[in-house]
Amino acid sequence: MCGIIGVVQKRGDVAPFIHQALKRLEYRGYDSVGVTTIHNQKLYMKKDKGKVDEVHRRLNLDDMPGSIGIGHTRWATHGIPSMLNSHPHFDCNSEIAVVHNGVIDNFLELKTELSRKGHVFKSETDTEIIPHMLEDYIKNGLNLVDAVKKTAQRIEGTYAIVVMSTKEKDNKIVCTRDGNPLVIGKKKDVTYVSSDIPAFLPMTNDMILLLDGELACLSSEGVKIEKLFDNTEIERESIKISWTADQAQKSGYPHFMLKEIHEQPEAIRNTLRLREEIIEEAARMIHDSKRVFMLAMGTSGHAAMTGRHMFASIAGILPSFELASDFPDTVYGSLTEEDCIIAITQSGETTDTISAVKYAKEKRAKIIAITNVVGSSITRLADHTIITQAGPEIGVAATKTFMVQLTSLALIALALAKRSGFTNSESLMKKRDFLDKIPDIISDVISRNEERARKLAGELYEQPSLLFLGRGVSISTVEEAALKLKEISYNHAEAYSAGESKHGPIALVHDGFPVFFVVPNDETRNRMIGNIMEMKARGAHVISVISKDDKELVELSNFVFTIPEQIEPEFSTMAFIVPLQLFSYYMALRKGYDPDMPRNLAKSVTVL
Ligand code: F6R
Repeated sequence: MCGIIGVVQKRGDVAPFIHQALKRLEYRGYDSVGVTTIHNQKLYMKKDKGKVDEVHRRLNLDDMPGSIGIGHTRWATHGIPSMLNSHPHFDCNSEIAVVHNGVIDNFLELKTELSRKGHVFKSETDTEIIPHMLEDYIKNGLNLVDAVKKTAQRIEGTYAIVVMSTKEKDNKIVCTRDGNPLVIGKKKDVTYVSSDIPAFLPMTNDMILLLDGELACLSSEGVKIEKLFDNTEIERESIKISWTADQAQKSGYPHFMLKEIHEQPEAIRNTLRLREEIIEEAARMIHDSKRVFMLAMGTSGHAAMTGRHMFASIAGILPSFELASDFPDTVYGSLTEEDCIIAITQSGETTDTISAVKYAKEKRAKIIAITNVVGSSITRLADHTIITQAGPEIGVAATKTFMVQLTSLALIALALAKRSGFTNSESLMKKRDFLDKIPDIISDVISRNEERARKLAGELYEQPSLLFLGRGVSISTVEEAALKLKEISYNHAEAYSAGESKHGPIALVHDGFPVFFVVPNDETRNRMIGNIMEMKARGAHVISVISKDDKELVELSNFVFTIPEQIEPEFSTMAFIVPLQLFSYYMALRKGYDPDMPRNLAKSVTVL
C-alpha cells in the first residue's frame, strides 16, 4: 500500500537513486509519486499524480540537488490521486518533509486542533497533520527525534513514517513505525530506509529490521535505533538477504508477471530445499492441536484451500479454511489454546491476516506463519515461521508466491502424514519424489501452453464474462484462475464448483458462452465430463485444462491446454493453474492493460 524510500549519503545527489528505488517500489501503489531532497538547508520538491515514468517525463525526478532525500509512491486512501494529495507533505514553512504509509484514524480531530492554531493544510490526506505537528513541537524547542516521538504518541492508527528537516544541522532522516513495514539498508557512507527490500537491493544486501514501537535516526555513517517511548537504545545486527538485485529486475521480460510465471520452477526447487526441521516443527504443532484453521486472503486463500485438501487427503487431517478478514466473526468465540492457526500471506503484512492472527494470539492459539518476506510483521507474531523461497515478487498479481505456498503446504502435509500414519510410507515416498519432478513439469507446461494462451486471449478478449468450473481440489484452481483474470484484465469471471454450476450459474450459458473446465485425471474426471456435456448442450464454448493423453476430453472441448504428465492428485493445482495464469496475462495484454499494475490494487493490502 504506498512505497517509501529515504536515503542519506556522504556526498553526491540522491535523487537519481530515489527515482529508481521508487520504480522498484511501484508495485505498492501507483496513484502518485513524489521526491524531496535537502541541499544547503533548503528543500527541493517534485511530485505529481501518475506512475513513476509519467511523472519523471513531466518533471525529471533525477534533477534535484542534495545528498539526503525521501520519496513516495501512493496507493490513495484519504483524498483522490492528485498533485496536492501526493507525498511528501510539508509544514507551513516548507522546512519539514514527511512520507507515510498507513492510515491515521484520529487525523480529523488533530487537523481541527492544528487548524485552530493557524496551520494551513493543502491536501485532503491524513498524513499532512504529521509535518504540522512536528512543526509545533520543534517551535517549542524539541529536536526532530523528540518531535517525532511526541507526534507518534498522539497519532492513532497504523503508520510507517519517514521525515527530514532543513533545521537539523547534520543530514539526518528520522523514521518510526507501527503496523506498517520499514527496513533499513546499510553500506559504506550511505544509509537507506524503505518499505521493502527491493528498493535498495541493487546497492546492499545488508538489512536491519525496524520493529513496531521503534524509532531510527539515519545518517550517512549509520543508524541509531531506540525505543519510541522510553529512549532505550537498541543494538540490532544486520541480516544478509539472499535475494539478488536481478530478481527484482525484469531481465528482458516485458513484465514482472510473465517473468515470475517463468520463475515458478526455480521458486519451487528453492522451497523444496527448506530445512526439514522447519517443516517438521510445523507438522508437530498441527498434529498436537485439537483444531486447525488456515487463514489467508486472495490468492493466499486459494493456496489455503488447496492446502486443506492436501492435509486431508495425504494426512487425514481436515483443517478449516477461513478468510482472515472474517475470522473473529466466523469462529464465534470458540478459539482456545488447543487450536492451531496456519496464517498464509506472501507479504506478511496483509492487515486482515495480521488482525486475525492478533486475535488468535489473544486466545492463546498457536500460530504458524507461511510468508515470503523475512522479518515481515507476521513473522513477529508467529510461534513458528516458514519462509517460502520465491525471491521478491514485484508483479501485483501473485503467481510464484502462490506456487511456493503450495510447495510448503505439500511438504507439511507429507510430514504430517508421517505422524498421523494416514498414508503408507511407500505412497508418501512416491508423492515426495513427485514433488521433486514438479519444477520440470511446470517448465514443460509453460512451453507447451504459452503460445496457446496468447492465441486464446486473442479469441476471447471481447467476451464480457467467463465461467471457470472444477471439482475437489480443482475448485481452488478455478477460484485462482478467475481471480487472476479479474485482477489484471478486468474481465468478469466466476469460479464455481462444477457440481454447484447446475444450481444457478448454468442460466448464464448461451450459444458461444466460454466455460473453462479444469479436469485432472483424478476421481473427479468422469463427473466433470458430465458437467461438460450439460454445458455443451446449452451451447457453451468449452475450454479445458486436461492431462496430455485425455483424448476423450480433447474431443469434447473446443480448445484445450494440456498438462504433460499424470499429476499426483493433491498437487494438481500446481500444474493446472499455470496455463490459466498465462491466459490472464495475455488477456490483460490483448485488452491493453499493464498486468504488473492493475487499477485499484496494490501488492500488500494494509487497510482493513
Ligand atoms: C492476488 C493477490 C491478492 C493477495 C492478497 C493477500 O493476485 O495478489 O489477492 O493474494 O491480497 O496478500 P498476501 O498474500 O500478501 O497476504
